[in-house]
Amino acid sequence: MLWRTAGVCYCRGCRAAWLPIRTPVRYNGAHRGFFFDATSPRETGKEGITVVPTGGALGAEIRNVDLRTIDDVDFAVVFGAWHDHLLLLFREQELSDEELIDFSRRFGELDWAPIQESGRRFVEGHPEIYVVSNVVENGMPIGSLGAGEATWHTDMSYLEVPPKASMLYALEAPRFGGDTYFNNMYGAYESLPEELKRRIEGLSLKHDGTYNSGGYLRQGVTPVDDPMISPGVYHPLVCTHPETRRRALYLGRRRNAYIGGLSLAESESLLEKLWSYATRAGLAWGHKWRAGDLVLWDNRCTMHRRDSFDAASRRIMHRTQIRDEVAPRA
Ligand code: SIN
Repeated sequence: MLWRTAGVCYCRGCRAAWLPIRTPVRYNGAHRGFFFDATSPRETGKEGITVVPTGGALGAEIRNVDLRTIDDVDFAVVFGAWHDHLLLLFREQELSDEELIDFSRRFGELDWAPIQESGRRFVEGHPEIYVVSNVVENGMPIGSLGAGEATWHTDMSYLEVPPKASMLYALEAPRFGGDTYFNNMYGAYESLPEELKRRIEGLSLKHDGTYNSGGYLRQGVTPVDDPMISPGVYHPLVCTHPETRRRALYLGRRRNAYIGGLSLAESESLLEKLWSYATRAGLAWGHKWRAGDLVLWDNRCTMHRRDSFDAASRRIMHRTQIRDEVAPRA
């Protein structure tokens, strides 16, 4: 006999159903990721993994799991929930850099971190880790983005094959500010008027490689503020998610963006319209960080932004980027 704890079954057909606590069920293998434990919680005193949707436009919290020791059955629940909710929050984790990398690798190969504004690349010995921090040590920032606002963006969309997912793990978080907001780009596409959907069908967008989301110039790049000539790569404006097959608006970041084939004025006007749909409050969900929080998001169907915070407080986050197997496709 297997036991399920309160939560949502991850079968497509029945995932909305909240289950009574500790209902005994027979696991028949038909379910994609059930909340079950091989033994009764009464025997172990341990509750099984649970998925709790945020109730917002995206996101769910995964409870009762230690990412250092997660087994294959619980990982299947996490993987299914990631596709269904776009973003997952895990609280009270205690991960070393190696453990963060190990858990990230369960989703695929990792990309190396982008070069930081300081010209440094990574945590010594761990090229996969990108440090996001305002902390300065020996006169040198230990990470990127400082304490300022980071504008809406998709991580590394200026690459031919941007990462499919990112994980951000909080080592230190300020008491106030520095909250991160995520939005649902499936919802953004679905909310467009039919006429606008038709207008953008088949169009491609240049994703700027000049500035990062904090407005800092990327290493080795000459500053350019003309979207027609700034460096970057083109991706379809509307992409089909390779796994869920759902369509999402794919905007990357606003600065220096340019829709191929249009005049600059036409491109700017169309982008303004699309961004106004994509950044409506109803499509977003915000997270207030505590040390030990880990957030995993899908870069193919979300964007994120960050509030500024008091530069005198400390915020240290370690991020990994999971490499995609395919470039964004219409
Ligand atoms: C990022 O853009 O990956 C960092 C977001 C944050 O600092 O919250």
